Amino acid sequence: MSSQPRTTSFDADTIRGEFPVFDQPLTNGRPVTFLDTAASAQKPRVVIDKERECYEQYYANAYRGVYQFGARVDEELEATREKVRDLINAEEISEIVFTSGTTMSINLVADSWGRKFLRPGDEILLNEMEHHANIVPWQQIANETGASVRYIPLTDDGRLDIQELDNCLTEKTAIIAVTGMSNVLGTINPVEELARRGKQVGALILVDGAQSVPHMPVDVRKAGIDFLTFSGHKIYGPSGVGVLYGRRELLREMDPFLTGGHMIDRVFKEKSTWAELPARFEAGTLPIAQAIALGAAIDFVNQLSFDAIHAHERRLLEHALARLQDEVPGFVCHGPGLEHRGAIISMTLEGVHSEDLAVLLDRRGVFVRHGHHCTMPLHDLLGVSATTRASFGVYNTLDDVDRLVDAIHFAREKLRLV
Ligand code: ALA
Repeated sequence: MSSQPRTTSFDADTIRGEFPVFDQPLTNGRPVTFLDTAASAQKPRVVIDKERECYEQYYANAYRGVYQFGARVDEELEATREKVRDLINAEEISEIVFTSGTTMSINLVADSWGRKFLRPGDEILLNEMEHHANIVPWQQIANETGASVRYIPLTDDGRLDIQELDNCLTEKTAIIAVTGMSNVLGTINPVEELARRGKQVGALILVDGAQSVPHMPVDVRKAGIDFLTFSGHKIYGPSGVGVLYGRRELLREMDPFLTGGHMIDRVFKEKSTWAELPARFEAGTLPIAQAIALGAAIDFVNQLSFDAIHAHERRLLEHALARLQDEVPGFVCHGPGLEHRGAIISMTLEGVHSEDLAVLLDRRGVFVRHGHHCTMPLHDLLGVSATTRASFGVYNTLDDVDRLVDAIHFAREKLRLV
């Protein structure tokens, strides 16, 4: 069962107080203005405490020990698995595979499903806003199987050009691989529509939920998603653990990705048979304490409620865009309008190099990411080599937005643009 939302209004200052990292000022006395949640989120005390609890009270390897610590670890891991199932509304916990993160989850599907089922002439339907983790594994498996990759065009404002879908989604399409929310443009993609249209031609759909799952409700059954991937560290959980959801009938037909301990049924000298789901895809020792603490992270977001998270992040986004557009000459925010995006702003400022901007913002305690954000094809399409990205999370406040804008004014002064 989901934990019940604990508040109806969203008190960002109180929530910020639950993240120990914000307790201390920086060496220059400024508060931490952390605007890089799309890269990795900060951790609330409940997550840190849960990971510590495991190490201090009952740590052991998973699914191996009948002694008390082993049994407790197994129980805690299965509790997290159930929380993940509930979070994304999967049918069964056997459909929830723990991985090291989104990258591994997508590689697992590309390799285990792709190697077995892709045929020469098949097409894998991507688009240029995808993260490299949702492009490169598909290029690799296409090369090996004789399939090819194809791209849904984007509109000028950075959305999928759905008008073009009829041209690129055909009987040859074996799978659509698409991000739920772009890590650069913030674009929220129409996953349900893509899944429905894909089914009409017999194509599967994989959704990279690294950015969407932490910020909005995702229902795999309602949306018709075949595979969903996400990372623990972006949903306020530990690094090193991630999730692959796969529909049971699909996972059952797939061969293992990694082989070794725990994923077998029987090993003979010449051959082996595979364990049931999800163990078949969990070779070796899991990130045990991290997966257990992921359960605490899921409780944390559920208690805040996705409606409240969305409304709060929307307020931050609106305030940031209003001030930046009004006050900063040469400011360009890449991506669509408010109704199609989450709380990510990737910007270019006329006459300013993205790295210079990030370095100068850091002097004001404002932490942003610069560069291509693992989306080179998208930056090629935008015609820029790099952007500076501010991305928001539950702990950000309107004061953070004001500090960002003030720091941009400071950077422009330093660069003698004022
Ligand atoms: N994919 C992460 C980002 O967008 C690392 O920053």
